[in-house]
Amino acid sequence: MASKSKTVYVCASCGAESLKWVGRCPSCGEWNTMNEEIRSPVKAVMPAAAHGAGGRAQKIGEINPEGEERYKTGLRELDRVLGGGIVRGGLMLIGGDPGIGKSTLLLQICQHLGERLKILYVSGEESQRQIKLRADRLGVCSDRLYVLCETDVDTIIEALYAEKPDLLIIDSIQTMNLASVASSPGSVTQVRECTAAIMRAAKGVDTPVFVVGHVNKDGAIAGPKVMEHIVDCVLYFEGDAHTSYRMLRCVKNRYGSTNEIGVFEMRDKGLYEVENPSMMLLSGRPVNVSGTCVACCMEGSRPLLAEVQGLVSPTSFGNPRRMSTGFENNRLALLLAVLEKRAGYFFSNLDAYLNVVGGLRLDEPAADLPVALALVSSLKDKPVDEGIVAFGEVGLAGEIRSVSNAEARIGEAARLGFTKILVPYHNLKGVSPRSDIQVIGVKTVRDAYEQL
Ligand code: TYD
Ligand code: MG
Repeated sequence: MASKSKTVYVCASCGAESLKWVGRCPSCGEWNTMNEEIRSPVKAVMPAAAHGAGGRAQKIGEINPEGEERYKTGLRELDRVLGGGIVRGGLMLIGGDPGIGKSTLLLQICQHLGERLKILYVSGEESQRQIKLRADRLGVCSDRLYVLCETDVDTIIEALYAEKPDLLIIDSIQTMNLASVASSPGSVTQVRECTAAIMRAAKGVDTPVFVVGHVNKDGAIAGPKVMEHIVDCVLYFEGDAHTSYRMLRCVKNRYGSTNEIGVFEMRDKGLYEVENPSMMLLSGRPVNVSGTCVACCMEGSRPLLAEVQGLVSPTSFGNPRRMSTGFENNRLALLLAVLEKRAGYFFSNLDAYLNVVGGLRLDEPAADLPVALALVSSLKDKPVDEGIVAFGEVGLAGEIRSVSNAEARIGEAARLGFTKILVPYHNLKGVSPRSDIQVIGVKTVRDAYEQL
């Protein structure tokens, strides 16, 4: 172990380290994110308490999983994303853009959790009065909620030992400061060391912790990426600044499945759960207009219907433009090439625009078919019937390939009153016949278009 402190350069975006300063991070490719950090001799990161049996190996059958009871937050959407509730001793990170609603979400769950648990809410951003005003607006008045405005981690850990709360909330990690670390609050080293210190203390007393981390695109403060590997669960709170809908997405979970999403709506009295996200995503859908098609995609274990809109128009430049929102641009270019080469729809002198309505991101291959149909519908100026839903992966030969969870997707479409669903032909084998919705297997994009 080195006894002297040394200088390293740490990327504020991904946490990669380099001994020399470089303009561009060699790991994540971001420009101008390498910051100088003075590194003191390294400390152990894993707490002994997290290992349980004091360093002794144990047979897995003999390990007692007791205490795996989960605390319900009172928001079912949040519980599902967490994998069923808060796990004792778990460290959960909530990341998101400033102002998206992270503090609101955490303060809101204090009301329900406060009925059973003692909660310590530590804020480094707002004063006690500000928090009280917000709590009043959210209707949070639990007797067992304690508010501490503090940024010094040692003081917070003392308060943790003194108050012995059942849940600790840290808002936000970028404001926290550990006196023994030389860097300024918000820097990569501070964020990482503060997280580790809080985790050591909390795991030692088996207290679950929520940590808020701001995402900052220009890298001026260290993002949640640098803590992702330390914490047990990473949630991202996302949303379009122009709409009131917010999505909570889980990207890492040691206690449950990832890729679950929870949908909320921000109103004047805080966040409300959206029980029926498909309905919300489809509201205000234009009918009898060409260039729109409803897609059925899986978000975790849940099927979601979303509207895909395509627009093609003659290009006024030499190079046609391809632009997409909520769908990968390269995938759009690939689909256009397949449509042109394999199905005979010509886009080469046309601009193509694609938009997934409602701020949703469709990364699943099953979105290919509805995207292709929206584009062809716009090209031919022929509306897709409003009762139609589609899903399926488009292969490079123009074939429609099967995807997973066909049954669940068809069920969701039927539940929302759709009358016809286009599915990959090879998925037909796996689905039971239904009377409420017409299920049509398609083999190629052309096939699918002819069914419209
Ligand atoms: P906030 O939770 O402070 O965001 P974060 O902690 O992620 O930075 O959310 C602030 C935004 O939410 C702010 O723009 C106002 C809005 N808001 C409401 O619309 N209704 C409410 O009841 C509250 C508390 C906030
Ligand atoms: Mg906040």
